Amino acid sequence: MRVVVLISGSGSNLQALIDGQRHGTLPIEIVGVISNKTAVRGLLRAEQAGIPAIALEHTAYDSREAFDTALRERIDALTPDLVVLAGFMRILTPGFTRHYEGRMFNIHPSLLPKYQGLHTHRRVLESGDTEHGVTVHFVTDELDGGPPILQAKISVHPDDDEKTLAARVLEQEHRIYPQAVEWFGRGRLRLHQGTVFLDNEPLGPSGYLIDVTHS
Ligand code: GRF
Repeated sequence: MRVVVLISGSGSNLQALIDGQRHGTLPIEIVGVISNKTAVRGLLRAEQAGIPAIALEHTAYDSREAFDTALRERIDALTPDLVVLAGFMRILTPGFTRHYEGRMFNIHPSLLPKYQGLHTHRRVLESGDTEHGVTVHFVTDELDGGPPILQAKISVHPDDDEKTLAARVLEQEHRIYPQAVEWFGRGRLRLHQGTVFLDNEPLGPSGYLIDVTHS
């Protein structure tokens, strides 16, 4: 399965996918990594793994549509089966998301539908929630609103701050993102009329749930 990964920064989720590919646990070939920012660590990670790394700066385009058109051309030239947004910090136009419907994933550090958007760890702490987590979902034109595939749920500790919470969530990200990509690569996962199916069984509104609140 040909995979294109879009990033904007550190690329630790990209690294988890590169590691899975390298160890043979993921049936994928990452055929390109595209960043909307130059000089980010994720591009270096791609280069070190011998993967074509492309910087396509959104600031060089006068509109969101113009950037998305250029991005789409770059992606489609790589003929991916799956597009993976891994810390890609851009709002995408509906035309773009529709084009990749059913074959584009995003990861969002919250238990969606809670806390769409930014600063999720801070908002969880401010709300006094005792549970938090991360969601992998299919991308639709609603920001962080597409149907969930997989969630990992963790406990919030009384002494947590944004940093400790983010680190524990990230640990789960590196676990569930490769898992979701593997399911897709093995043909076990599909989106049909807004419902996610795993092994032909519809998943519920949270997707497949991994509960690590007691570990
Ligand atoms: C992750 O927390 C991801 O959930 C969010 O952005 C962060 C990206 O981290 N969308 P990295 O670039 O994969 O290290």
